[in-house]
Amino acid sequence: MTKNRKPRTESALLINIGQLLTLALPGKPGPRRGPDLKQLGIIQDAAVLCLGGKIVSFGTTKDALRDPWVRKTIRKNRNRITEIDCTGKVVLPGFVDSHTHPVFTTPRLVDFEKRIEGASYEEIAAAGGGIRSSLEGVRNAKQAELASHVIDALQQMTAHGTTTVEAKSGYGLTLESELKSLEAIRDAASQWPGTVVATLLGAHTVPKEFAGRSAQYVDLVCNEMIPNAASQRLAHFVDVFHDKVAFSLEETQRIFAAAASHGLAVRAHVGQLSETPLESLLRFNPASFDHMDHVNDRDLSLLAKHDTVATLVPGANYFLGMKEYPNARRLIDAGVPVALATDYNPGTSPTLSMPMAMSLACTQMKMSPAEAIAAATINGAWALRLADRKGSIEPGKDADLAIFDVADYREIPYWFGVNRCEMTIMNGTISRRVTGHGRAGACRA
Ligand code: NIG
Ligand code: FE
Repeated sequence: MTKNRKPRTESALLINIGQLLTLALPGKPGPRRGPDLKQLGIIQDAAVLCLGGKIVSFGTTKDALRDPWVRKTIRKNRNRITEIDCTGKVVLPGFVDSHTHPVFTTPRLVDFEKRIEGASYEEIAAAGGGIRSSLEGVRNAKQAELASHVIDALQQMTAHGTTTVEAKSGYGLTLESELKSLEAIRDAASQWPGTVVATLLGAHTVPKEFAGRSAQYVDLVCNEMIPNAASQRLAHFVDVFHDKVAFSLEETQRIFAAAASHGLAVRAHVGQLSETPLESLLRFNPASFDHMDHVNDRDLSLLAKHDTVATLVPGANYFLGMKEYPNARRLIDAGVPVALATDYNPGTSPTLSMPMAMSLACTQMKMSPAEAIAAATINGAWALRLADRKGSIEPGKDADLAIFDVADYREIPYWFGVNRCEMTIMNGTISRRVTGHGRAGACRA
């Protein structure tokens, strides 16, 4: 792995933005619910000024260029501000991918073929495939090799407009290899200009050497993995795969309690393959419940009163060839805050593309393009407890922006299987991409 230093933070003035999706919704604190999920705060022919990695102002291009304070600031920083003419394109907050598993070494091609031949998730796992088949690669890999896989993933995410990523461990499942995975995330994060939030997923599955002794494995998670990850400040969150094929409700509660006692926040994979009761987990104030393919009405109405975000990951349903998707309409209409994420992982969702997840959300879960965008930005930020810094374009927030080579925001989920992201700005650092789409007037900087 090449040891790159984080590129220097730049200051930028973006002008002639065809549609600026600010996602600002003044007077409505908290994650977006119900009809608020489609409020994008659009400004036509807009400008944004970013200084020192922060957004300092936005408005129409005409007003910005006339504003005495903006003019003075530009004059004072003339050689330090990059002017970017967006030639009518769409600019929005960088995507917040709030659920990824990037620490693995190899794709799971045997599982892929078996599934095509008709094997189920459970059958593949029982035959030695699934999560357990990714363990050997991670256990044998050096930390630097894992970090290089993570940085590759982060760079590809950048190219698709993602500026904040939650990254889980979970393919080591020994104390040493879970900590090594978290260290790899930390090393990769230190080389990437975007923002990474690390999550310990020691409770991903019970590894073979603990078969039939899941209580002892949970002891290892609670008594060794969590305390070490916390004391070495390697993780912000603890995650649990709570399902009939993974950890029980009681085990999840034990793990959440251990996390809380070490000052770590919690999130969980729930209701992916079977319904998992959620009420008793809410007392741990999880930042997010992810997957949510199966959820009962009672839990739904409880979630509508909490800030726990339901993070939907339709890439997994797509890749598993499922006919059913999480019922996003039911969740949104009940007032549950919904986010979208890629669930990037080698078994069930090998995609790094938030626009792909958004496209699936629109076509398969009947979310509108506007809802998909808010779910991929501001509600993703809420799912990581970063909404004070991320997910919308407002003065004081981090300068995290994505510029798409489209004239209308609805084109972002519309064009699927191609990447229309042209430029990403992460904490003020600009990353350009050659798109080759041939639209007139590529962003000039
Ligand atoms: O989110 N559900 C558990 N974890 C992953 C799958 C991981 C794997 O199969 O490697 C998920 O879909
Ligand atoms: Fe996952």
